[in-house]
Amino acid sequence: MEVYSEKQQITVALEAVKAKNLSVGFVPTMGALHQGHLELVRKALLENDQVVVSIFVNPTQFDNKEDLEKYPRTLETDVNLLKEVHPNRIMVYAPSVTDVYEDELKSQHFDFDGLEHEMEGKFRSGHFDGVGTIVKRLFEIVKPDNAYFGEKDFQQLAIIKKMVEKHDIPVNIVPCIIYREMNGLAMSSRNARLKPEYKEAAPFIYKTLTAAKAKFGTESAVEVMEWVEKQFYTHDLLKLEYFIIADEDTLKTVTKKIEFKKYRAFIAVYADDIRLIDNIALN
Ligand code: PAJ
Repeated sequence: MEVYSEKQQITVALEAVKAKNLSVGFVPTMGALHQGHLELVRKALLENDQVVVSIFVNPTQFDNKEDLEKYPRTLETDVNLLKEVHPNRIMVYAPSVTDVYEDELKSQHFDFDGLEHEMEGKFRSGHFDGVGTIVKRLFEIVKPDNAYFGEKDFQQLAIIKKMVEKHDIPVNIVPCIIYREMNGLAMSSRNARLKPEYKEAAPFIYKTLTAAKAKFGTESAVEVMEWVEKQFYTHDLLKLEYFIIADEDTLKTVTKKIEFKKYRAFIAVYADDIRLIDNIALN
């Protein structure tokens, strides 16, 4: 399995792939790979001849310097995990910051038709400009036919779809379901940093989401949102940042249910200094 650290090298390798008319599936990641990431890679392998996985902790999408510094970097382990998934149909692109950004470590500003102002956009300033910048750049380098994104980061997925549509980028975006631990906790690279007592407490997040989903059948969105807030008031370890029920298309908070609309509940919680997000489809 080849690991490329320079865009020029991977560009040459991919030109050879495309010259043979082979399809390219792309899975962008920030590394510290877990089974959730690997499921995206497996799906990409099923649907494409060649798969590219990028591993790059993108500085411009972090609004918190400490979070960026503490983000786990485990390239060697990641490469070994990918080798186990498939020994020769995956290419890894693990560039340096300068290879991607050259001499300008800066985000481009994007207009995602308001999607960027909801939820994560409210709490992580500049985050989606950073995500848009890196994903657009990676698409320009890899030029994939299909690109795979997890519903774990549902707002990110919506923003990437919007970017592709608005900028006419010729790539098919494939959404992938959320992979969870047996106890319901959504898999995340950040879980590895949880201290034992927080790891034990964290499945409460998904338990609350499933209870909220059941309540949404008979109660109003506002009632459900208030109920969830109450569940966290008295929690010793987990601090709720937001719980929102939103329209899946606009990501705007819903006040009144409309029959034919699709709704989803979104949550962000602090476990110690580690921020965890999750979501669940409600109907
Ligand atoms: P990262 O957090 O490493 O996630 C890479 C991809 O894996 C994303 O599409 C994310 O939604 C997906 N993913 C993570 N955990 C998942 C889970 N439990 N189930 C399903 N999919 C999961 O998201 C990013 O990196 C970055 O923002 C990136 C898109 C790479 C841009 O820097």
